[in-house]
Amino acid sequence: MVLIAIVLVGVVIWGIATKLEQLREEKRFKEYLKELNALKAKMTLEKRDSWSLEDIALYDGKDTERPILIAANGRVFNVWRGREFYGENAPYHCFAGQEITRMLAKELLESEADDEKVKPLSAFEKMMLNDWVETYQFKYDDLGPLEGWEDGLRQQAFDGIAVAEPVEESTAEPKVSETDGFNEVSSMH
Ligand code: HEM
Repeated sequence: MVLIAIVLVGVVIWGIATKLEQLREEKRFKEYLKELNALKAKMTLEKRDSWSLEDIALYDGKDTERPILIAANGRVFNVWRGREFYGENAPYHCFAGQEITRMLAKELLESEADDEKVKPLSAFEKMMLNDWVETYQFKYDDLGPLEGWEDGLRQQAFDGIAVAEPVEESTAEPKVSETDGFNEVSSMH
């Protein structure tokens, strides 16, 4: 009889302990979800009508308390969800806070050589770019257009950046051309 009572008490105690552990586990999970949602809310940015290059540079992945932005093909994306790719010391950190259209098109992780910068993107590179942008559209929040994209930046990205010839400092007097008599500044050649 006593043995049965002991077993019964044991079973009741085990049942209570198991239930308490279950409740504690549920509480921990709820707290985790609450923290995760608060973090997600903090890392969410509203869509804007326009983002400047300076704006996105503020979200360069160095501060773990801020979202991470990139701009590609005229759109700005919040890639914080992929912080393991773009955060500090991550493999694609060099993209964070940057306009990366040409880097995606040419699959580069460092800036182009000067003689490459001036070249237009090839059909293949444009296709690569489209594939990457589709990935970004699918995976991340599109926050709106990049300022200046339609006013020069797009052309720069697709056709290449016109690199100005270095202008040498010259103190020499402008020389008069023997052929046409107009003044030509020698330093411009
Ligand atoms: C040895 C060369 C490379 C290897 C082995 C490699 C490998 C990978 C892997 C495993 C992923 C993760 C895929 C996933 O889980 O979704 C990834 C993502 C990615 N890679 Fe590379 N990669 C290489 C080079 C490059 C280069 C040169 C670029 C330059 C454009 C690049 C751009 C990216 C981007 C943008 C992502 C997507 C990150 C995201 O989802 O936000 N990768 N790569």
